Amino acid sequence: MNQEEFINSGETLQTELLGTTPAEIQKAGALLASGKLVAIPTETVYGLAANAFDEAAVRSIYTAKGRPSDNPLIVHISSFEQVYELARKVPPEAIKLAEKFWPGPLTIVLPKKSVVPDAVTGGLDTVALRMPSHPVAREIIEAAKVPLAAPSANLSGKPSPTKAQHVFEDLKGRIPAIINGGECGFGVESTVVSLCGEAPRLLRPGAVTPEEIALVCGKCEVDPAVLKELEQGQIAASPGMKYQHYSPEAKIVIVDCDLEQYIKFCEKHKSDGVFALCFEGEGEKLSLPFVEYGKENDPASQAQELFSALRRLDELGAKVAYARCCSAAGVGLAVRNRLLRAAGFNVISAEEAP
Ligand code: TXA
Ligand code: MG
Repeated sequence: MNQEEFINSGETLQTELLGTTPAEIQKAGALLASGKLVAIPTETVYGLAANAFDEAAVRSIYTAKGRPSDNPLIVHISSFEQVYELARKVPPEAIKLAEKFWPGPLTIVLPKKSVVPDAVTGGLDTVALRMPSHPVAREIIEAAKVPLAAPSANLSGKPSPTKAQHVFEDLKGRIPAIINGGECGFGVESTVVSLCGEAPRLLRPGAVTPEEIALVCGKCEVDPAVLKELEQGQIAASPGMKYQHYSPEAKIVIVDCDLEQYIKFCEKHKSDGVFALCFEGEGEKLSLPFVEYGKENDPASQAQELFSALRRLDELGAKVAYARCCSAAGVGLAVRNRLLRAAGFNVISAEEAP
């Protein structure tokens, strides 16, 4: 029975929590090389890894996550030479971006070689590549001796996991092992940039900003789906954009206003199950129960804590959460993009707020 049949059979696996000793990393590498799934830490979020060349192993990622199979995966590599194994064309911009941002939280989409199975790319003619900066992630790739296809290690639709505990909550009984490498440094997924069109195009914002990409490549277009809901019938440049992502059970509503207005807004909306999702130090000024994430003028700290905060709201049984949110500048673009998706693009402006 392969892993897909196993999961469909309703039986459960014993999910082992491993540390990061050389022996445990070798064990993870051996599991991956034999077609099994292992959740691994990266500097962005935890990934659910499989041998990128093993079609059956890659398919079992979709089953374990409950992920739609047309949503392609990122292939993780540990050396630049692997780009040439996987991509058919490597434009000079790819080399320049890799020199500047790899290893690190940048994913580059390039035309793929036929060795990359369709299961990885959702049938697209392109492949997304990233060299993570988390040393444990690279050690595991080296131990497996193959590039690793890995989406975020959450159940499809749940916020991405930033701690091994989150992975365990979502995937226990569905995967054989999780490597616990502590909390992820960035907390939101990598920036995705496509180099398959005329100009570099940002498909998903992350820690590397479009301004930084433009400094290296001369320009960087931002796909409209980054901040706006796709209209019906519009085709997503990045298939991930069309799914409602990152949603906790609680209904999230973004409230765009200053703190004073927000305090009044919360006062008016006191009700059973209604929570505030606010910045550090603000909760005690509010009349609602609250979960805090990051500092007001520090989007990097917000990014690091956002997904954990969304999971916390569910643990506390929140039905609705009114959220403070930063502007879409710099790393704030990534935070706002994720929170907009968690909120299903539900935003109340300052005028409507109080
Ligand atoms: O930080 C990250 O990127 C994490 C860690 C584990 O590395 N991974 C991650 O993977 O976020 P995932 O599968 O949750 O998101 C991959 C995103 C999706 O939005 C997908 O649509 C897009 O990358 N993507 C993958 N391959 C693509 C391709 N060939 N063309 C366009 N978009 C692609
Ligand atoms: Mg994901």
